[in-house]
Amino acid sequence: MLTIMENADQLAQSAAEEILNTVRAQPNAIIVLPTGNTPLPTYARLVEISQQQAIDWSGVRVVSLDEYSGIARDDPRVLCSWLERKIIGPLGIATDHFIRFEPADDPLTESARIEDWLGKNGPIDLAVLGLGLNGHLGFNEPGTAFTARAHSLTLTPESISSNATYWGGEDKVPRSALTLGIGTLMQSCRIMLMVSGQAKADILARSIEGAVGPEVPATALRSHPNLIILADGSAALALSRESLP
Ligand code: PGA
Repeated sequence: MLTIMENADQLAQSAAEEILNTVRAQPNAIIVLPTGNTPLPTYARLVEISQQQAIDWSGVRVVSLDEYSGIARDDPRVLCSWLERKIIGPLGIATDHFIRFEPADDPLTESARIEDWLGKNGPIDLAVLGLGLNGHLGFNEPGTAFTARAHSLTLTPESISSNATYWGGEDKVPRSALTLGIGTLMQSCRIMLMVSGQAKADILARSIEGAVGPEVPATALRSHPNLIILADGSAALALSRESLP
């Protein structure tokens, strides 16, 4: 289901409500959360509403969508530390309820450890995702099999370039990463894809209307039975009339 919101604030409001509905219905829900610019307003709103309404997050388990690998745990670029600052800490989620890839540890062992945790504790109740300029989900880069489980990978030039805006230059972007796989994410009970800004208009149109296949990882989502796409007006600009709600 595609919903077009008027602007990024409305998108944040709807996305925060969607996440809160999951927590209200399942106080011990497992929720996947992404890093990036797109979810920032949603996280701010989520914290605000949670404080106003005294939402109890103590039973919720958050799984990080992805992480760089081959950098130290205290490196400022560690994505899970960003998540901790922006959302895990402010919501009062305990450290042992935050399931995260360790950036400095062996990537194969890390991928297996996260899959093992999900196998024992899953399914994921809600996976919140952003959309990469190249159609990636997490760090499932173009060409990744739709059946992929958590894995390590080398970033594509497109992801290095888009991540450069976070760290002040391409040379500062780590070259390898860890991610939940598309196959892992597709087993989630519900998936919410958030897309904002005109820069994402073309890739959103390709994701919704283009050929389904690994070259645009987000096209995998089209076969998910419980998918919600929240896009703001700018991100929806390239969609054809048939796609619009
Ligand atoms: P963004 O990143 O939210 O910063 O645009 C999304 C992504 O690349 O997955």
